[in-house]
Amino acid sequence: MNLEKSSQLYNESKKYAPAGVHSPVRAFKSVGGTPLFFEKGQDAYLSDADGNKYVDYCMSWGALILGHAHPSVVQGIQNQVANGTHFGTPTALDVELASLILSKLPFYQKIRFVNSGTEAVMTAVRLARGATGRNKIIKIDGAYHGHVDSLLVSGGSGLMTFGQASSKGVTQGTVQDTIIIPYNNKEALLEVFALYPNEIAGLILEPIMANSGLFVPEKDWIHYCREITKKYGALLIFDEVITGFRVGAFGAAGYYDVVPDIGTYGKIIGGGLPVGAVCASEEIMSYIAPNGGVYQAGTLSGNPLCMIAGLKTLNALFEEKVYDYIDKKIGPYLDQKIQELKLSTDYPIHYQRVGSVFWICPMMDKAPNSYHDISSKTVEFFKGLYHHLLTKGVYFSPSVYEVSFLSSKHTEKEIDALIDGLKSYKA
Ligand SMILES: Cc1ncc(COP(=O)(O)O)c(C=O)c1O
Repeated sequence: MNLEKSSQLYNESKKYAPAGVHSPVRAFKSVGGTPLFFEKGQDAYLSDADGNKYVDYCMSWGALILGHAHPSVVQGIQNQVANGTHFGTPTALDVELASLILSKLPFYQKIRFVNSGTEAVMTAVRLARGATGRNKIIKIDGAYHGHVDSLLVSGGSGLMTFGQASSKGVTQGTVQDTIIIPYNNKEALLEVFALYPNEIAGLILEPIMANSGLFVPEKDWIHYCREITKKYGALLIFDEVITGFRVGAFGAAGYYDVVPDIGTYGKIIGGGLPVGAVCASEEIMSYIAPNGGVYQAGTLSGNPLCMIAGLKTLNALFEEKVYDYIDKKIGPYLDQKIQELKLSTDYPIHYQRVGSVFWICPMMDKAPNSYHDISSKTVEFFKGLYHHLLTKGVYFSPSVYEVSFLSSKHTEKEIDALIDGLKSYKA
């Protein structure tokens, strides 16, 4: 496989950017080898600088649900660009996107656009603290909420632990009010609220955990998260940066029929351009500046390019009945092919899918409960499998802890390419 140009670009890039990249997982540290430099995306395919073509299952880390370069999104951006990229003022487009998103998420009344998922979460945490007048935030072990200082924490071995900063540069003071508990664990929630009945501002969840493998909530647990937060006057924050508009029109809140107090969004609502959003009730949002004292701002927030990309994406999602296609056609096809594959591979596979998000974790004899159950054997095996898949023209996110994404442009042909790649691997 010729990766000469990617390799040259990587060496060049390392002169300027730390590890040659602008976001860490892109450096291929978990799988080794040369990160691919891509030049073009069309539908379900990516082409790299050497002209190799791949079926893309990363889909810009879940931001693209219509595949690459959807004509309506491209046209919308092109038309807008000619009229100016940003005015630093409100525009009709931000009104239109706000109204469209809120019409699809009727459990929220107000929205504030920001520029990334990280920013959305940062704002949500500040808002929860500002609205409740409390400090402590509960976070789930293994959940990723962007590079928000107070959430860059790892837990200890107890049921409930105070976070230790998991990144250098984050002070212990910044994380001292972050409490870590395991996912799907009622006792831990009870313990925290019993210890700090009047101090918890919010519980933040990736309702479906999709950043350390793919883990679904037990139904009674996720409903219990709602009950217990309400009982103690804490806010329930659903981080739907991945799940929003991906696991169906109502995201995880709709999927599990739980109404959170605050929701954070990103990825799909920007249609491939940088957007995030915080949604909440009228009352909670009244705390945000300039009406309230929780400060939040952004030079490029709500800029018309991102707004039009989001609008065109969401409109096409509904017009093209993408959820039906994924839920009734291509999702079940993938399930069926993986079940057949499992009978014929030399290695065991754990497979999980929710809507258009799926996870393939090799060398797992039984379903893991969390990322702690992923062994070094799996991590090692994945490196070989990963590079084999590349040679077969299949691009996954470069880490076994990352999930994969379907789009409206993945058909049986692209799924068959994945299955062939998985089937033909010999460790
Ligand atoms: C659940 C979740 N929250 C927040 C973020 C951060 O979003 P961004 O990378 O746009 O800052 C991510 C990114 O992957 C995410 O998966």
